[in-house]
Amino acid sequence: MDLQGKNILVTGGAGDGMGSGICEAIDHSGGRIIVNDLDLEIAREVAEKYNNAVAYKADISNADEVRQMFDKINKDVGILHGVVNNAGIGLAKYAHEAEEEEVNRLFDVDVKGIWMVSKEFVKQLLKAKQSGNIVNISSVHAFATMHRMAIYSSAKSAVNGLTRGLAIDFGKHNIRCNAVAPGMIYSEQSVSIISRWAHDPIKWMKDHKTDHQCLNSFTTARDCGNVVVFLLSDLSRSITGQTIYVDGGATNLLYNNEYTSQK
Ligand SMILES: NC(=O)c1ccc[n+]([C@@H]2O[C@H](COP(=O)([O-])OP(=O)(O)OC[C@H]3O[C@@H](n4cnc5c(N)ncnc54)[C@H](O)[C@@H]3O)[C@@H](O)[C@H]2O)c1
Repeated sequence: MDLQGKNILVTGGAGDGMGSGICEAIDHSGGRIIVNDLDLEIAREVAEKYNNAVAYKADISNADEVRQMFDKINKDVGILHGVVNNAGIGLAKYAHEAEEEEVNRLFDVDVKGIWMVSKEFVKQLLKAKQSGNIVNISSVHAFATMHRMAIYSSAKSAVNGLTRGLAIDFGKHNIRCNAVAPGMIYSEQSVSIISRWAHDPIKWMKDHKTDHQCLNSFTTARDCGNVVVFLLSDLSRSITGQTIYVDGGATNLLYNNEYTSQK
C-alpha cells in the first residue's frame, strides 16, 4: 500500500491509542502525517517521531479553529490528499444519569467535529479540483452495544450514517469516504479502562478474545491503522460509503463461543 507523496491529516493523532497505530501505518506506507490535537506540544512530540510530519493544534468541535487550521496547513504544506477523522471522546454512563453538557460535548466532538473537518477538507479539494479520501473512526458500538454505552453508541451510529451520506455527496468529485470501526483494542489504555469494571483486566481481555471473537487473537491499533491505509490508498479505489469492522469477528457472533461450545 503506497501513500508516497500524500499529505494525510490525522485528527487526535497525538493520542497513544488509535492515533499511534494510524500514524505508524501511514508513515510505514510513505505518507506524510499532519498531526492534529488539542495540545500543540504533545502533537509536536508525536510529529517528531515520523518522517517530515508536522503538528497543528485545533479543537475539532470549534468551527473557527478548524478553518484556521486548514488555512495554516494549506500555506505550510499545500493540499491535503486524505483526512483520518480519529479524534473522539467516550461517555460510559447510563442514559438516565448522563448530563446534557456531556452529551452535547460527545456529539460536538464525535459527530459534528467529523462533519466540520470533512467540510473544510472537501472545500479545499473542490477549489483545487482534486480527488481525496476521508476515513472516519467509528466503533463496534455502532453495530452492537452494552450497558452504559447508549449515547456513545448513538454517536458512533451517526458516524456510520455520515460516512454513507458524505460518500454519496462527494462521489461525483471522486472523493471517497469510508469508516473503520475498531473492536476491543489490545493496548495499555484498554487495560486501564477495563480495570474500571474488571479486577483482572488482562484475564478479561483474554476471555473476550476466546469467547467473544471469531479469531483467537488480539486486535491492535496498528491493525486498524493498516485498514485505514488501505482505505486511503488506490487499492480501495472502488470502495466508498463502507464501514469496515476491525474486531476479530466479534460483531459476527450471534452467541458467545462458550455458549455454543465452539471455542
Ligand atoms: N481505543 C479503542 O479501543 C477504540 C475502540 C473503538 C473506537 N475507538 C475510537 O478511536 C478514536 C480514538 O480513540 P482512542 O481510544 O485512541 O482515544 P485517545 O484518547 O487515546 O485519543 C484521542 C485523541 O483525540 C484528541 N482529541 C480529543 N478531543 C479532541 C478535539 N475536540 N479536537 C482535537 N483532538 C481531540 C485527544 O487529545 C487524544 O489525543 C475515537 O474516535 C474512538 O471513539 C477507539
